[in-house]
Formats: sequence, C-alpha cells, structure tokens
Amino acid sequence: SGTKTCNKLQQNTQDDKKNTQIDIKNKQNGFLKMLKSSPADLVTETDQQVEKMLISAIRRKYPQHRFIGEESVAAGEAVELTDSPTWIIDPIDGTVNFVHRFPFVAVSIAFTVNKQTEFGIVYSCVEDKLFHAQRGRGAYLNGKPLCVSGQTDIHRCVVVTEIGAERDDLALSTMTSNICRLLRLPVQGVRALGTAAVDMCQVATGGADAYYHIGMHCWDIAASTIIVLEAGGVVMDTDGSEFDMMSRKVIAASSSAVANGIAQVVQAFPCRRDNEA
Ligand code: IPD
Repeated sequence: SGTKTCNKLQQNTQDDKKNTQIDIKNKQNGFLKMLKSSPADLVTETDQQVEKMLISAIRRKYPQHRFIGEESVAAGEAVELTDSPTWIIDPIDGTVNFVHRFPFVAVSIAFTVNKQTEFGIVYSCVEDKLFHAQRGRGAYLNGKPLCVSGQTDIHRCVVVTEIGAERDDLALSTMTSNICRLLRLPVQGVRALGTAAVDMCQVATGGADAYYHIGMHCWDIAASTIIVLEAGGVVMDTDGSEFDMMSRKVIAASSSAVANGIAQVVQAFPCRRDNEA
C-alpha cells in the first residue's frame, strides 16, 4: 500500500506541475501565472499578491516612499534608485522552488536612503528563518548574532552560486565553465539552493564561505548584501571592482582574500543593468 500511496502522490504532483505549464485561469495552488524572460523565469499569483500586500501596507504608513519590486518591474515599472527612501522587494525569491515545492523560498526586503541600504530582511519561509541586519548594528538570524566563517584560504571554501534564469548559449557555457574552474582549483564544494537571497545569507551564517552570481537582479540580493556585510563579510563585483547593486554581478565572501580569489576565476557574460531602460 506504500507503493500505491506513493504512485498516487507522484501522479498528483505531476498533474499539478502539468497544470502549471499554462496560464491558468483558476487560482489553483496560487501557482504559475506566466513565464517572464525565459522558461526558467516564473511568476505566480502568489508573487504578485505578496508584492501588492507589502507595498500597500508600507505605503499606508509611508506614503512618500518609493519602491522597486520584482513584479512591479515585470509589469513595466522602471528601476529607479534615487536618494529618496526606497524599498526593494522580492516577494518570493526562489519562485521555481516555490512552484516545485523545493523547500527554499524567501521574502526579501531592503530599505535604502541616499542609495545606501539601511536595513535588510530575508525570511526563509519553509525553514522559518528570519535574517536581518541594520547598518552598523550587526546581522542576526532569528535574533541571534551572525558572523561569517572568516575563511581566507579559497581551497577550503564551500562556494554557493546559482545557474539562474539565463538560458542562452553564452550564459550557459560561462556559468558551467565558472563552476568547473572553481572545482579544479579546487574548492571544497559548490552548492546552489535556488534562491539568491538565502544562498547569500549562508555566507553570513558561516555555513558557506563565498557566494557569486551573474544575472540576478537587485531585488534578489539587496537585503542579503547588508546581512553579509554586517556579519563581517565582503561584497564586490565579480570583476573585483566595487559592488554595484544594479550591475547584476556579485561576490559575497568571508574575507577579501576569498572574494579576490573568486574574482580571479569567475568570468561574466553580458547582462543588461537593472536600471537600464
Ligand atoms: C531568482 C532566484 C534564483 C536566481 C535567479 C533569480 P526569483 O529569483 O534568486 O536563485 O538564480 O537569478 O532571478 O525570480 O525566484 O525571485
């Protein structure tokens, strides 16, 4: 009977996933609504509802504040980071995981003033882990202080990355050869959880020593950037230059030595900046 139950459950899961391949009219499971830039860039009704809920709740309290929200941008809003107080929101980071029930999804919220991040919150919902950091006040996981591993030897590192949603040949060959080059160094492990925000928070906990990613967006990593920095980590562009939230390239690491070691190995493929029309 175990096998029967299992077959039935598998069938239900397959049916659910099949039903998510089209623009569903009913609200079944709040699942897939449409594809965005590629077959791996998904949006669900839940993404849209969570973003609307967050923006309207914050706007009620702070009517002058501005927003950069993943789904508002997908709906045509421009990405404009000005000196005004701005909330940068990813309502569900890890939407592919969410659709497949792979248990790493997060809500990511950062708040900037004068283009500087004042605080960031990443809530890893299934794990019930709340990461937060405020500029100058440290980083915390469920209220307990966080600290990066402090590792300086790249050969002893666990490195987290993402394959991302880009599927063109150049992106794929660059991403896979980056992983090969790191494995040949060698590093001790390469991991991917399917959510940039949670990946990056692993560096803040010391569970991973570095994270790099090319092709993510500012809303994926705005909050986790301040969490890593406040946990004592280093954040830079993949070419070793200063971190630029709009460039769609990031390295976060336990030390400058490790960050520079990753920058020497990793190559980027061209991505349109987030704030480029
Ligand atoms: C995605 C996730 C994924 C990363 C993609 C992102 P989304 O965000 O962070 O890990 O590889 O580049 O777009 O679309 O699930 O919010």
